[in-house]
Amino acid sequence: MKSILSRNNPIGFFDSGVGGLSVMKKTIELLPHENYIYYGDSKNAPYGVKTVDEVKKLSFKAVEFLLEKGAKAIVIACNTATAAAVEDIRKGYADIPIIGIEPALKPAIELNKNGDILIMATPMTLNEKKFAKLMSRYKEKKSIIPLPCAGLVEFIESGVLEGEELRKFLSEKLQGHNYKNTSSIVLGCTHYPFVRNEIQSIVGHEVNIIDGSLGTAKELKRRLKENNILNEKKEKGNIEIYNSKSEVVELSYKLINL
Ligand code: DGL
Repeated sequence: MKSILSRNNPIGFFDSGVGGLSVMKKTIELLPHENYIYYGDSKNAPYGVKTVDEVKKLSFKAVEFLLEKGAKAIVIACNTATAAAVEDIRKGYADIPIIGIEPALKPAIELNKNGDILIMATPMTLNEKKFAKLMSRYKEKKSIIPLPCAGLVEFIESGVLEGEELRKFLSEKLQGHNYKNTSSIVLGCTHYPFVRNEIQSIVGHEVNIIDGSLGTAKELKRRLKENNILNEKKEKGNIEIYNSKSEVVELSYKLINL
């Protein structure tokens, strides 16, 4: 289905669940006059432990849903779906700006601090060739340690953003990688910024925690400008949230308003 490239149409975001809301939240700060439409596929979350083909199929379904609703541009607010499907989606919808997200390794390198850079992400993101390409660009410069975090998305999907059980899960993950020598942590999954405080309290405030949402928001702005479809209204835009699991919609509105 074709998008109607009109300034007043919404920007469509999707993710395997509620994670992409962290990216949409940052984008709303940068572009408050845009209209937004979000699709979370919580019924099928997590994506990070599925096959690439499954994630591709689900991603195409999400894009179709957003285009039916009139999206003028699509943000794949999911590192996993970006790794698995961005190339195919761009080929399939060549006339619509498609913006993906990948682990924000560059800003971590640019901090130029001593110590390891830890990348927390889903197993699929870390196994895909897109990530291997990203690593090969920087691995000479720094010690970069991928840390697959299967199981973490489930906490956030069920609205658990703090507490003992989560802290135990995170401590075990991080201890397994001797985080004492870590200079920064890249959150390579859009769910993880929602548990940033818990991660920070485990690793301490010397460690920088970086995510890719601002970079993605800026890239979206650049693409909207380039296509002459930035919304020029003066008032605040609308936000509509959909989810394949209807009971998650309420949590989604909470997360966007955190
Ligand atoms: N928010 C998705 C990401 O950025 C989570 C993936 C999942 O569902 O496993 O990778």
